Amino acid sequence: METGIYAQQLELFQLFQPTNIKVCTSKFTFVDLFAGIGGFRIPLEELGGQCLGYSEIDKEAIKTYQNNFIKCNSEEIYLGDITNINKLPFEEIDILVGGVPCQPWSIAGKLLGLNDPRGKLWFNVFKLVKENQPKAFIFENVKGLTEPRNRASLNYIITNLTQAGYIIKYQVLNSYDFGLPQD
Ligand SMILES: C[S@@+](CC[C@H](N)C(=O)[O-])C[C@H]1O[C@@H](n2cnc3c(N)ncnc32)[C@H](O)[C@@H]1O
Repeated sequence: METGIYAQQLELFQLFQPTNIKVCTSKFTFVDLFAGIGGFRIPLEELGGQCLGYSEIDKEAIKTYQNNFIKCNSEEIYLGDITNINKLPFEEIDILVGGVPCQPWSIAGKLLGLNDPRGKLWFNVFKLVKENQPKAFIFENVKGLTEPRNRASLNYIITNLTQAGYIIKYQVLNSYDFGLPQD
């Protein structure tokens, strides 16, 4: 048993045990850009991630996302339209993710690339990466972005993200190889 000054210190310490500090059980934090209905969120949560906030503009997607993921006492922030965000309101972000709209590079679209308003959303992505400096990021798009006709756009995206201070790797993956019914 402690005596004297140590006992007093111990007592004082026990008296001031904080009671309102939350136990953080998450392994990492992430922010979900172009969140859609949560395709990125499911695996990230399965891996122990905690979502800090999500950006999406489609009303039906937001409704589905909120019904599926947002608990009523959640402190998570709905971030709205990415074009209105200058800096994400978080001190530190482990991973920034986003399925950046892909129509400008898809053979199913008009192939306007960075001249398409949806292609320009990459500029908002660059801004947030530069401002917030997440530890890492993952952005998803269509295979078409890697094809020769879109090479200049892909190089431009890689250059901007590299200039923000990151090492960029990209890969074409087939969802079919991951157990999904889509080739
Ligand atoms: C390719 S989808 C992403 C799908 C998502 N990964 C999912 O699992 O559902 C792109 C999403 O970006 C959203 N979006 C388009 N413009 C946006 C903007 N200005 N701010 C935020 N989200 C936007 C679209 O509504 C769409 O849901």
